[in-house]
Amino acid sequence: MLSFRLAADPWCSGPTCQPVTLEIAGSNPVGSANFEYTDAPSAARTGRSLAARRPVRGDTDGVPPPDPTARLTFREMTVDDLDVMAALLGDPVVMAYSAHPKDRAEALAWIEWNQHLYRERDFGLWIVEERETRRFVGDCGLTPQEVDGTIEIEVGYHVSVALQRRGYATEAAAACRAYARDVLGLERLIALIHPDNVPSQRVAEKIGLRFERATIGPSGRPRRVYGASLV
Ligand SMILES: CC(C)(COP(=O)(O)OP(=O)(O)OC[C@H]1O[C@@H](n2cnc3c(N)ncnc32)[C@H](O)[C@@H]1OP(=O)(O)O)[C@@H](O)C(=O)NCCC(=O)NCCS
Repeated sequence: MLSFRLAADPWCSGPTCQPVTLEIAGSNPVGSANFEYTDAPSAARTGRSLAARRPVRGDTDGVPPPDPTARLTFREMTVDDLDVMAALLGDPVVMAYSAHPKDRAEALAWIEWNQHLYRERDFGLWIVEERETRRFVGDCGLTPQEVDGTIEIEVGYHVSVALQRRGYATEAAAACRAYARDVLGLERLIALIHPDNVPSQRVAEKIGLRFERATIGPSGRPRRVYGASLV
């Protein structure tokens, strides 16, 4: 029996949010019925393997972030990003469909959660910057999420208000979808989105995720499950 503990889900910032502990049988750390996670990369599919990528960059003990896109770069977040992340996650417009804007301590917890994910899972949400200017855009990446008792991998994104509606979220999320399939060898990807969050639903649709069902999150908030097979 493999014990896998999720700390209090930082996506869930409401007062009703509780830590989630999962006991998962077998060697698959995700261990869901309808989702297969392979720790081994899908090298046969693409020729890009985790093993091949591990030593490429020295910024982590784990796997490097997604390669740059036409306009954007990805890198791991650190505590040095606390000012920009606190501003992003503390913005009531950006957090309109979350329980509440995060304070500085919650933004730090967000960074630490992602650093934990980089170490333990070889992915997380990454800092996204403009490739040419190095200007901070937001975050985008992959996180494990509990959906109706199953752990699935979600693509998530936040874009600073000043840089929204330029196609950045779509560009970053598409790169994360490709990374999930080609580098991590994931076979399924989802997005969990508030029913009123039309921009986020459009991003999900534009990277090929399709509406699957409506459900209720751990905090009692409604959310829509968008998903796609990556195989
Ligand atoms: C969702 C979010 C990341 C989209 O970022 P973005 O960089 O502006 O998105 P894009 O420019 O790639 O646009 C993607 C689609 O959303 C649409 N869109 C973006 N902002 C919109 C808005 N305010 N109203 C309506 N549609 C919007 C775009 O028009 C585009 O669709 P189209 O091609 O059909 O026109 C951004 O609005 C955001 O950070 N929101 C707050 C955080 C959030 O909700 N994250 C997701 C949690 S599930």
